[in-house]
Amino acid sequence: MAKKKPEEKIQTKSSRLQKKQALIIGASSDMAIAMSELLASRGWNLVLAGRNIKDLRDQCSDLGIRHQIVAEPITLDLMDGKGIRKKIQSLDGVPELTVCFAGIMLNEDEARKDYETAEKILSTNFNGVVQAINPIAEQLKEEGQGTIAVVSSVAGDRGRQSNYHYGAAKAGLTAYLSGLRNYLFPYGVHVVTIKPGFVRTSMTEGMPLPGPITGSPEKVARDIFKAIRKKKNVIYTLWMWKYIMTIIRSIPEFVFKRLKL
Ligand SMILES: NC(=O)c1ccc[n+]([C@@H]2O[C@H](COP(=O)([O-])OP(=O)(O)OC[C@H]3O[C@@H](n4cnc5c(N)ncnc54)[C@H](OP(=O)(O)O)[C@@H]3O)[C@@H](O)[C@H]2O)c1
Repeated sequence: MAKKKPEEKIQTKSSRLQKKQALIIGASSDMAIAMSELLASRGWNLVLAGRNIKDLRDQCSDLGIRHQIVAEPITLDLMDGKGIRKKIQSLDGVPELTVCFAGIMLNEDEARKDYETAEKILSTNFNGVVQAINPIAEQLKEEGQGTIAVVSSVAGDRGRQSNYHYGAAKAGLTAYLSGLRNYLFPYGVHVVTIKPGFVRTSMTEGMPLPGPITGSPEKVARDIFKAIRKKKNVIYTLWMWKYIMTIIRSIPEFVFKRLKL
């Protein structure tokens, strides 16, 4: 009997996926610093993206030396329009994991009156993040694996008078991430939406934050890491914010509009 020929190997495109490498966007944020530390201590190589290349370079060499990992900085400004996509596409390979922390909160009164302030809040928190994530999503889709985790906010769950420009941008981001997760699911790419409540960082410096419901950047980083490992879709950090926001969302509009929130 004639021997069966071995099956021909199907030619696949060579993979550009960088295993155990994470791209951290908004790497100078206090939460991102905690996340980078946590990932580096577990042997992940890092690409730290942000506006201040000098600080990022220092951050990278410190992490590299202490954890024996490869960490490199790249300049990325989320107000850079079409330049954002180009910058992401210029990366050497496709990081298996992307975690985006970039965001900005400015004075709400200024946002109401001033075009540039409103533009900065909306573009950084929404459009800029979307333009950075889109090319990563396409690359991971081709690879058929990977994770994208993005920090949105509980502020996007319901608009409040104290920060509704910021909240609107985060609400848009949350909706984008929900759609992206739905789009990428059949391709094996996972999307995690992170909704922090209050966190003690430079963004909230000087604000009177209620202790029991305020998290530390380190706790947020641990929650994000756990959510990525367990393939969670949406997480609140600290956990009790899930219940706080359920109550806030359930307040009827005719009552809500009278509240000073
Ligand atoms: N702190 C809270 O209570 C809280 C609550 C809910 C959600 N969040 C969200 O958590 C994330 C991290 O915030 P954080 O509290 O850690 O504040 P943060 O320390 O002020 O970090 C904000 C980060 O965003 C970056 N960023 C701002 N504009 C940018 C731009 N145009 N291009 C690139 N990067 C830009 C900053 O980089 P530069 O160093 O270049 O300025 C910084 O790395 C944000 O998305 C924030 O909205 C925070």
